[in-house]
Amino acid sequence: MILLTGGRGLLGFAIAASLSKHHLAYCATTTQVPAEHPFVSCNLLNPEAYPSGNEPWDAVIHCATHLQGGGTYAKNMRMTENVIAFSKKHPVKKLIFISSSNASVPLQDEYSRSKKDSEKMIRESGLEYCIIRPTIMFSERDKKNIFKMMQLLKTFHVAMIPGNGEYRLQPVWVDDVADLTVQCLLKWDLAKNQVLAIGGGETLEFKEMIRRMGSALSAFYIPVYMPLPLLDLVARDAIRSFVTEKIMDNSAIESKFNVHPRTLSSWLEEFRLVDKKQAS
Ligand SMILES: NC(=O)c1ccc[n+]([C@@H]2O[C@H](COP(=O)([O-])OP(=O)(O)OC[C@H]3O[C@@H](n4cnc5c(N)ncnc54)[C@H](OP(=O)(O)O)[C@@H]3O)[C@@H](O)[C@H]2O)c1
Repeated sequence: MILLTGGRGLLGFAIAASLSKHHLAYCATTTQVPAEHPFVSCNLLNPEAYPSGNEPWDAVIHCATHLQGGGTYAKNMRMTENVIAFSKKHPVKKLIFISSSNASVPLQDEYSRSKKDSEKMIRESGLEYCIIRPTIMFSERDKKNIFKMMQLLKTFHVAMIPGNGEYRLQPVWVDDVADLTVQCLLKWDLAKNQVLAIGGGETLEFKEMIRRMGSALSAFYIPVYMPLPLLDLVARDAIRSFVTEKIMDNSAIESKFNVHPRTLSSWLEEFRLVDKKQAS
């Protein structure tokens, strides 16, 4: 049995679907009450709340996270600590931690620090682990990042561009990250004790990404360039995290796990066709 934390989240949902596709039995945690099989209600901050289960736990995929809000660092560290304790108790043979590309650059916000320090805690736990570091993700289910930018473009015809918009991003499709996660479980000998980066199939400057979104939506928009010193006054950490380039090398995941991440442009093209069909 596999324990998947955060199974109702953006990535957790995609991992759950991929596990089902491969006929791998899992139990997924959610904070929602009540929860129906294969979900179980569990506040991961409380070590007593973790599922006991009579069957052996083979693997844990730790995907749950707090992204922002008060105490993000402390909450994420507590969850990691509890997941490690659970993994040692049962004992789990494979622990996959979903980290972030933010852990690969010197960012000081609570979320990025929690990812970096959780990675360290996991590496030093004595358990067999695999750490996956995705870049910013896109999906039609996304409510917060890329898809939200597209909704703003479509509804308000405005693109807020922090700084000069010339820093590069490498957005990755959520299903490619889910695919890699499951491939790691299946090819554990290759994944064991590795830190694997995953970014999308193309690298785009922020303002070019916005231009392609506008084109996919057939939406005119006014780009509003927001000076970084001004943004620093309101949300320094969040903005610095966003504009700091995180370009990932996909060669390891392509050669070892046969995962070839799609481009944002191909997804936008698909999105454009669906949008056009719905409009007609
Ligand atoms: N989204 C991105 O662009 C991105 C980029 C790089 C890395 N990542 C990483 O990918 C992973 C998944 O991100 P995501 O975007 O899918 O996040 P998400 O949609 O916000 O989902 C996070 C999940 O964590 C669960 N959770 C939070 N606090 C919890 C607690 N105390 N107890 C139990 N569950 C708790 C939530 O469960 P409920 O829904 O049940 O409340 C939620 O489903 C995270 O580790 C994140 O750091 C994400």
